[in-house]
Amino acid sequence: MTKTPLILAEKTNPADNNDLLRRVNGFSRMDKHQRRHWLGEHYLPADQAEALGYFDAPDDVRQEVLDNFSENTVANFPMPFGVAPNFLVNGKTYAIPMVIEESSVVAAASSAAKYWLSRGGFHAEVVAAEKLGQLHFRWGGKPERRAALLDDLCTRVRAQTKELTARMESRGGGVRGMSWRHLPEVAEDCYQLLVRFGTADSMGANFINTVLEAYGRELERWAEDCPDLTEEERELEVIMAILSNHTPNCVVRAWVSSPISAMNVPGVQVDAADFARRFKLAVDIARQDPYRAVTHNKGIMNGVDAVVLATGNDFRAIEAACHAYAAADGQYRGLSRCRLVDDTFHFELSLPLALGTVGGLTKLHPMASAALDVLGRPGAEELMCVMAAAGLAQNFAALRSLVTTGIQKGHMKMHLQNILSSFDATPEERRLTEEHFVGKTVSHHGVREYLDEVRKA
Ligand code: MEV
Repeated sequence: MTKTPLILAEKTNPADNNDLLRRVNGFSRMDKHQRRHWLGEHYLPADQAEALGYFDAPDDVRQEVLDNFSENTVANFPMPFGVAPNFLVNGKTYAIPMVIEESSVVAAASSAAKYWLSRGGFHAEVVAAEKLGQLHFRWGGKPERRAALLDDLCTRVRAQTKELTARMESRGGGVRGMSWRHLPEVAEDCYQLLVRFGTADSMGANFINTVLEAYGRELERWAEDCPDLTEEERELEVIMAILSNHTPNCVVRAWVSSPISAMNVPGVQVDAADFARRFKLAVDIARQDPYRAVTHNKGIMNGVDAVVLATGNDFRAIEAACHAYAAADGQYRGLSRCRLVDDTFHFELSLPLALGTVGGLTKLHPMASAALDVLGRPGAEELMCVMAAAGLAQNFAALRSLVTTGIQKGHMKMHLQNILSSFDATPEERRLTEEHFVGKTVSHHGVREYLDEVRKA
């Protein structure tokens, strides 16, 4: 009698074999062409895998710079790099570089910039520019002993990192202070050293993390050899050392204001006072309703992120920090505020922006470097002001549309180009379609129908 090889049958299932073949060792050691070839064998049609090289840099040296930013690279992923001109911020006119894929964002920023150019421009000030780092550890001492020990600990860790901090101090940064916190809600023996840093014109992540890790090593030495400690107080285990991306002490405020009577909306039949009233209501709704607040803040981040990306800053850090800030009182709220006081319209935005204009990608990425050149090589605080103005402008433009014409009119006009691209429209087809849709509602379906007609004709 023959036995049925049940398990074998399962193993020889062709789908499973394909899946096993897709598992790979040593992918990181392949060069880029080998990686594309491998993708072409296992995941993509071969010609599509080869076409990933479409946006390769024109020479190996420039390509290598990009490849070295990350691991396992197979291609470049280009994004549009645009510029929003006419931004008057603190009396200086900027053309703000923006990297973003969403149609209408740069157009909206440019339009808001122009609107405020004739109304005094944007104003901005850095409220505070301090960053934080945390060293978490377990310690066998009593929480009430912290006050007596902190000074000595502080002196020791500072002395040990003198060389690390000297250069940053010469640029106006360094360690500004520290506190020792007990975290009984985590565990009775859980503590945190919260360290305040100034990082001058750099974002400072590497600096902060290097200093904190050195603090961690010194903390362990301190527990071993500080003569003032009891046996229990020598029990110490460092858990982790890392900067905090929550930066409520690295905040910029941007604002605009205008007589309400001058708040007319070009091209729209709306009374200036009515517009200001509806606009304020829209801002107030976002302050109270989290569902609206998230969308409202997304609009602000359209402007902020585009400048963050263009200047080679860390958009994940900025996003995380801004949303934490938006929920600072326990409820997620819109980040901007509007007031109508006497006859004046006031609109402002405060947000945490931990930025750098030196070091990291800002220097290495040729486009980030070009963006900083366009901005006139600002320091970190000037960039915070410009970026906050871009966020406020974006928010203004979105709300101006929302409370007047609705958002889709402008958005679909810009989006028409994307729809046409998805149908591989020729320049002539583009021209005809643009003409056809003047004054009409643009939709994907409508464009397809119209293009079908044109193509049949
Ligand atoms: C779209 O990217 C952004 C908006 O939704 C922002 C807003 O609703 O305020 C238009």
